[in-house]
Amino acid sequence: MASKIPEEVLDDIRRQTNIVDVVGQYVQLKKAGKNLFGTCPFHDEKTPSFSVNEEKQIFHCFSCGRGGNVFKFLMEMEQLSFPEAVAKVADFVGADLASTFRPVQGSRESSEVVALKQLYEEASKLFKHVLTSTVAGQPALDYLHQRDLTDSLIETFDIGFLPNQGDLLLTFFQNREIDYQTLRQSGLFVETQTGKLHDRFSGRVMFPIRNAQGAVIAFSGRVLQATPDQPKYLNSPETPIFNKRKVLFNFDLAKATIHQDKRVYLFEGFMDVIAAYSAGIQNGVASMGTSLTSEQLSLLTHQAQELVVCYDGDQPGIEAMKRAIGLLGQHSTLELGVVVLPSGADPDEYVRQFGAEQFRETLQKGVETPTAFELRYLKQGLNLTNEKDQLDYVQQALAVVAQIDSPLEIEVYLKQIEETSGITIDTLKRQLQTVRVKNVTSQPLQQSVQRGGPDSYDEPPMLVDEATMPVNRGNAPQQRQVKRLSKIEHAEQEILHMLMRHEDVRLQLENNADFSFVHTPYQLIYELWRAYLDEGHVADIAGFTTYIPDDLQSLVIQIDLLALPEEANQEALNDCLYVIGQNSVQEQLKMAKIALSEARKLGNQDEEFRLTLEVIRLIGKMQ
Ligand code: UTP
Ligand code: MN
Repeated sequence: MASKIPEEVLDDIRRQTNIVDVVGQYVQLKKAGKNLFGTCPFHDEKTPSFSVNEEKQIFHCFSCGRGGNVFKFLMEMEQLSFPEAVAKVADFVGADLASTFRPVQGSRESSEVVALKQLYEEASKLFKHVLTSTVAGQPALDYLHQRDLTDSLIETFDIGFLPNQGDLLLTFFQNREIDYQTLRQSGLFVETQTGKLHDRFSGRVMFPIRNAQGAVIAFSGRVLQATPDQPKYLNSPETPIFNKRKVLFNFDLAKATIHQDKRVYLFEGFMDVIAAYSAGIQNGVASMGTSLTSEQLSLLTHQAQELVVCYDGDQPGIEAMKRAIGLLGQHSTLELGVVVLPSGADPDEYVRQFGAEQFRETLQKGVETPTAFELRYLKQGLNLTNEKDQLDYVQQALAVVAQIDSPLEIEVYLKQIEETSGITIDTLKRQLQTVRVKNVTSQPLQQSVQRGGPDSYDEPPMLVDEATMPVNRGNAPQQRQVKRLSKIEHAEQEILHMLMRHEDVRLQLENNADFSFVHTPYQLIYELWRAYLDEGHVADIAGFTTYIPDDLQSLVIQIDLLALPEEANQEALNDCLYVIGQNSVQEQLKMAKIALSEARKLGNQDEEFRLTLEVIRLIGKMQ
């Protein structure tokens, strides 16, 4: 166990850190006023509700309510423990952190997960050794070389081979006395009816699949010679360490370049990613033989601004691209681009045929917008001199253009349609109006309302008021789920907000023996704040959030960000105290009345008399 990290050490690390740099690794942030905004990395959203306050060194999401300091951010983002997050921040800024304060590596992973990862790592080493240094690996090595995979690429991607010789992998692990259950669970073996294990991937070139942190969590194996009786690629089944919905091939190596270029290329196959890499495109990833999932998309959204889909240039590839565009267009904040490689090639074939330079150029300069791509492919198979085909084309083309919001873009595409179809742009515009009106009226109401919300950074969300007040002001997005606060909770939050700013508010509350918060979390924050100052800390929200239990951090941040006047305001404080006071009297009165009727029922006259006086006293207090 790592020892508890002293506060001086934490303070020291925080002083050297700018939360903006850390959050910026995961979220595209844009400055608006005092804060920076982006889409929240903790859930899927189109409208940015996530903000970072550089001055205070805290983050907050107005949609999901998460918030805290830089440590909290990493804890949530990377599912880290507090000491792990501290170590990560320290390493990020290059601050010293003694090893006694560092968490023991992997201590949070279950022994099952640790064992499986170890197994995969060892299997990967074995496969690579067999491929590169044994006679048994020679046919596979020849195959890869003949596909232009150099030794250095083999090294980078840790490619290996499992020969079809007995059960090499099984024997290897059995000699090491690996636990049978771990072997069964790993998915590296198939089990016969009688419970015997056999190598699943024998005879295949092995591509390790790594998670975002670079740990091998699965394999994809390719046969040397494709035959109709077996799949060309075979993937590991789902295991406790592998969920194919969450993994993107090569994301671990690509993420730095994705972050730097703000662009990611999505390919169909592993070989395409590797070929692109060899041609100098290092920001390529591929999903695991399925269409992109929302989990994978959310990995990318944190690093990239633009997603360029580059599937195979043949007909099925183009159909897949159309589907991908349809899907991505609805769900993502990423800008979309499409590259269609000429001559129906897949990226791997294209690189080998035309060379790295031409490939790079096509990938960088040949990016089309999804609309341009779709319009181009609508023409396929149509004979535009035929009147019916022409009308079909115009109708479908207008349906595509109707999805666009920007008038400028619409104009550009309508001109293209005019050129292709010969129908004048004025006629096209009128027709487009009809399509757009139809679209809006056929949409469910909620959706069309949402479209009216600000979806650009130019209109930063109404911050603080929205978090606390459920009223929908102006064009604030409607989809936010904001809890409606009671009057009392409002008052409690406001008092805490003032408390954390003004020393004399603390003194007043401390001198008021009757005062307490109605709701436990607020009372707790109050007591912790007092303890925090009593221990000699300066009043600092970011420091305070480190001091308090995790569960309270978001609430404290939310309270701190309330849009209230900065200067101390005795009148506002009195109002809040009054609201809380009223509540507590009301509560007491309710309880006294219940107790009184109980006493009557039981015929306890003394108690009845005492409680009657109490009720009268409380009613007096209410006036
Ligand atoms: P492709 O058939 O396009 O493979 O499948 P490729 O990348 O061109 O492979 P090579 O060049 O023939 O070696 C694309 C992706 O679909 C999945 C794999 O993830 C592959 O990378 N796939 C394909 C399978 O999972 N199983 C298969 O049998 C075939
Ligand atoms: Mn291929």
